[in-house]
Amino acid sequence: AVTLLSSAAFAQQTLLQEITESGELRACFDAGYMPFEMKAKNGQFIGFDIDLGKQMARAMGVKYVPVNTAWDGIIPTLLTGKCHLIMGGMTITPQRNMQVNFADPYVVIGQSILLSPKLEGKVTSYRDLNSDQYTVVTKLGTTGEGAIKRYIPKAKVNLFETQSEAVLEVTNGKADAFIYDLPFNAIYAAENQGQLTHLDQPFTFEPLGWAVRQGDPDFLNFLNGYLRQIKGDGTYDRIYDKWFKD
Ligand code: ARG
Repeated sequence: AVTLLSSAAFAQQTLLQEITESGELRACFDAGYMPFEMKAKNGQFIGFDIDLGKQMARAMGVKYVPVNTAWDGIIPTLLTGKCHLIMGGMTITPQRNMQVNFADPYVVIGQSILLSPKLEGKVTSYRDLNSDQYTVVTKLGTTGEGAIKRYIPKAKVNLFETQSEAVLEVTNGKADAFIYDLPFNAIYAAENQGQLTHLDQPFTFEPLGWAVRQGDPDFLNFLNGYLRQIKGDGTYDRIYDKWFKD
């Protein structure tokens, strides 16, 4: 007898087919994270991830659709199918990698410190902040939170929904230091000269990667192939320089 393939095998559409047929690449991110994703005054989303996403959608022959999502719900949003991938400066961590797959890293960053100027000279690294006399702040659910728990466990911690609320605590004098991804901190310090001291020696190792749902090696293969191509042909460098070089 002939063995028939299950009809499910035919009915199941791969993600790449779904993207092609819908004509849309839906990318999740959480705007406000400079220089990866920001909301411009005209309401448009701009930044490194946005440009890479647009460029990739063009290569796929589809439209880039931005899906701005609160950070603490971004993995559930991916898992429930509201976007095809997360292009949001997400650090590849073992905990996250238990829930999602990551494409190869597209940039490597680390945590750095925006310090209250009154502590300049007194605090020169994360080690000096590890005392209950200091209050440190960051964004909820980020690797900044993880870094504080691991490296600055004795300090008081306040967590905020957005990075801008968190960093304002330091400029307002309510907190001593803001712990966050170095690229954000470098830009914030440059834009707020004299208000904060940037301790720009990164103290964590954090590869950032685009996240997809588990069980789809084809889409992952596409992403890695695309990254390899743009890293080799100058596209990646051009977009990188646009957002990271001033
Ligand atoms: N890299 C950090 C993390 O993965 C922060 C990323 C925040 N990204 C954003 N789009 N707001 O936790």
